[in-house]
Amino acid sequence: MIETFKEGLTVAEAAERAGAPLDSVCGGRGTCGRCRVMVTSEEAPITEEDRKSIHPMDLKRGMRLACRMKANRDLVVEIPEEFARAGQIILEDSAITVEIKPKIRRVPLRVPQPSLNYPVGDFERLTKVLEDRLEKGQLLTSLSVLSSLPSLARSDENVFAVLRGNELLDLTSDETKGRYGVAVDVGTTTVVVYLMDLDSGEEIAVRSDMNPQIGHGDDVVSRITFEMEHDSGSIVLQSLIVQCINSLIDESCIAAKVSRDDIYEVVAVGNTAMQHMLFGLGTSGLAFSPYVPVVADPLDVKSRELGIRIARDGYVHSLPNVAGFVGADHVAVLLASRLSESEEPRLVIDIGTNGEISIGDSEGIASTSCAAGPAFEGGNLKFGMRGTEGAIDHVSISDDFDVKYTTIKGLKPRGLCGSGVVDAIAEMFRAGVIDMTGRIKEELESPNIQVKDGESRFILVTDKESAIGEPIVITQDDIVQIQYAKAAMYAGASILMERMGIDVSELDAILLAGAFGNYVKPRSARTMGLFPEVPLDRIVGIGNAAGSGAKMALLNEDVRGKALELARSIEYVELAAQPQFEERFYRALYFPNYDMSSFPEVMSEIPSI
Ligand code: FES
Repeated sequence: MIETFKEGLTVAEAAERAGAPLDSVCGGRGTCGRCRVMVTSEEAPITEEDRKSIHPMDLKRGMRLACRMKANRDLVVEIPEEFARAGQIILEDSAITVEIKPKIRRVPLRVPQPSLNYPVGDFERLTKVLEDRLEKGQLLTSLSVLSSLPSLARSDENVFAVLRGNELLDLTSDETKGRYGVAVDVGTTTVVVYLMDLDSGEEIAVRSDMNPQIGHGDDVVSRITFEMEHDSGSIVLQSLIVQCINSLIDESCIAAKVSRDDIYEVVAVGNTAMQHMLFGLGTSGLAFSPYVPVVADPLDVKSRELGIRIARDGYVHSLPNVAGFVGADHVAVLLASRLSESEEPRLVIDIGTNGEISIGDSEGIASTSCAAGPAFEGGNLKFGMRGTEGAIDHVSISDDFDVKYTTIKGLKPRGLCGSGVVDAIAEMFRAGVIDMTGRIKEELESPNIQVKDGESRFILVTDKESAIGEPIVITQDDIVQIQYAKAAMYAGASILMERMGIDVSELDAILLAGAFGNYVKPRSARTMGLFPEVPLDRIVGIGNAAGSGAKMALLNEDVRGKALELARSIEYVELAAQPQFEERFYRALYFPNYDMSSFPEVMSEIPSI
């Protein structure tokens, strides 16, 4: 395929625009080594980042990092299959049970004809018919709807008023108008669009893609920095996410044979930064203490203001945020988990780049967020990758260090996703490859344990078995990254429990939301001390609970009131302000992380990042 681009793009950006996106974990910073291409038209210059990530033999063959190479001349590049971005695996949602009572209503009616005895305007006659169906206040509408009224309001036909609250969004003879709605989960990494039938409550299509903002940073903080450093940063990030949502809506509509003009509402959830970026609000307030959002209340804006392509007068609704780093997506998780209805205390953990944790029951809920970093999503790890095809998702290691693994879709392994990394490290600890401080025991005699460039590593997959032509290993630095991430999560959970006066023995369940939570083996997560020690049967994956919460709010307008009540009643705990956080964090760096009476003596042995 031959494509032409303006100068200034990187090869990775050009490939993305040409519809052949490359894999990436670092967001184009040249550190993950996932965006490799083979340059066949010339001997391309080698960058320092190329040397760090690519084997000398492959450099010689023309392999380069596409994010480090400018496409400022005619170039021919090939994308090796293993570095093309694989399809996102869509996570099953937790089952939702909600009464079907959407905000968008389709009311069948017949408008009485005007006459000399009844010389009343079209809109006023329509208002009269709808009188009993309206909430308090008068019927509102737009000029475009008004101008379309005469033909239908003066005919004998049965028509449908498409209403949202007291606003008339359309008057139509087409009964499918307003029948569909869209729920969107705007994740930092993955965007998922669900096309829903508002009559039956059924999901009729679902599509997902990587959040294209990833080219400007793989975590929230780097995207906020991008916005602050570029005058049009907020416009760039907004248009990327809007384009992504539009294409996913288009794809869903094609799959379900639905017109996007029949959709009048989108309910979107995301963390506070993602939500602000979608609405183009600017995120500088989230960059500095006290990390205040522009708005925490729910938002309702015309879809055309955002450029979301649905019906002309459609709306985008966002659930409320709790705080700068606990956003509408966590509110959606809490709705789906029904934590506020639970008789017994439960812990809800949503693990991503930013981990959100809530604890409580029907008596009250406290929440916090902790910067777990991208390690649980495969970021910043030597062979980390997202949960896509070919990712190692489960690992077991025997006492004599024989490694067994599975991969997503059973393909040859290309790297490890979060659940694979947690399994690998928990198993390394269990099999005695690493000690309680996380140090790989170089002194053990095993061909799997090696020291390369001064760093110890454990070989999981040999170069012959791997799809990337080199061995897949866990390095000492990978272990440290995971230690820091799990310690942040554990310390956050333990401080919340203390704040709510809940002992671990009282915990009825630990509910794990999100992809990582669904795929991680509870035993492995517990072995490494990711969360408090509870019996394994009390650890439950609840799937993409953020998506489920968004669907619930789409299908039942009362859920939105509940979401606001919930968001405002939550006690938000800022970990940075908790004096005991540091000590808890350092304790939790160990394997396992509880009852470490020898803590002060061995603390200095933890390698630093
Ligand atoms: S090294 Fe290019 S995207 Fe990470």
